[in-house]
Amino acid sequence: MAHVQAHWITFANEKGGTGKSTTAVHVAVALAYGGAQVVAFDLDHRQRTMCRYFENRADTMARRGIELPTAECHTIDGVDEQAFNTLVSEKAAGADFIVVDTPGRDDPLARSAATQADTLVTPMNDSFVDFDLIGQVEGESFKVKKLSFYAELIWEARIKRGRAQIEQNRREMDWVVVRNRTGYTEARNMARIEKALSEMAKRVGFRTAKGLSERVIYRELFPSGLTLLDKGQLGDLGTSHLVARQELRGLVASLNLPRHGSDISQAAAR
Ligand SMILES: Nc1ncnc2c1ncn2[C@@H]1O[C@H](COP(=O)(O)OP(=O)(O)O)[C@@H](O)[C@H]1O
Ligand SMILES: [Mg+2]
Repeated sequence: MAHVQAHWITFANEKGGTGKSTTAVHVAVALAYGGAQVVAFDLDHRQRTMCRYFENRADTMARRGIELPTAECHTIDGVDEQAFNTLVSEKAAGADFIVVDTPGRDDPLARSAATQADTLVTPMNDSFVDFDLIGQVEGESFKVKKLSFYAELIWEARIKRGRAQIEQNRREMDWVVVRNRTGYTEARNMARIEKALSEMAKRVGFRTAKGLSERVIYRELFPSGLTLLDKGQLGDLGTSHLVARQELRGLVASLNLPRHGSDISQAAAR
């Protein structure tokens, strides 16, 4: 375990393309807008999406001669768990939040980051295919038939953490499954997905939150490193972008993160 005071948020699941990196950057920037000091660690050393996003953001700031709230980002490349913990303790000393983005595959460091999280965020797309990430449900009743390897892992992590909680006075892990990249889902299918998720939530011990809708803007922002929160920098925004910002604010609020300075969810709205 790394010895840190900061609230640790890990974005993880075993699948690519569910919006982990995009959501991680937006949450980190929302926290920075709230006045928090955020240190980010990108464990996906091949893609480095999160750190590249922050690099693009730094380039935009330099080019435009502006200052924007941001996070310091470190890519972690092939270090063992102990070295990772040492690096986190060193880089995140004095930080308010640690944000860790992980690759969409099982990997020892991703496991370590999931285990140590105060808040574990698992983005999931709105499809029964993605349910397999957490477990298999029976076709009619949606009773959980079998937990996924990943859910078992988190289960074990929580038990381990229970011990660390007593030793290190840490919080209980809050596991939030975020329905991300939602688009138009037919009402009947939506109801089925919600029912299946709530069955699973009871069995596995997570809660669900609404994430980001599928919107082209999220794909367009990456090269400039800007986020939906950088109001003054985005030019004229249409109503759909205002709705998107509202959604993001809702997501940050539903993560129930500790308050820092001014109200984070309000800062996300600004
Ligand atoms: N809410 C969204 N709407 C539209 N595109 C998105 C959204 N979230 C992510 N994307 C795009 O989908 C791709 C994968 O997203 P990313 O955040 O990198 O996922 P992951 O880190 O889980 O692999 C990227 O091209 C990203 O721009
Ligand atoms: Mg990613």
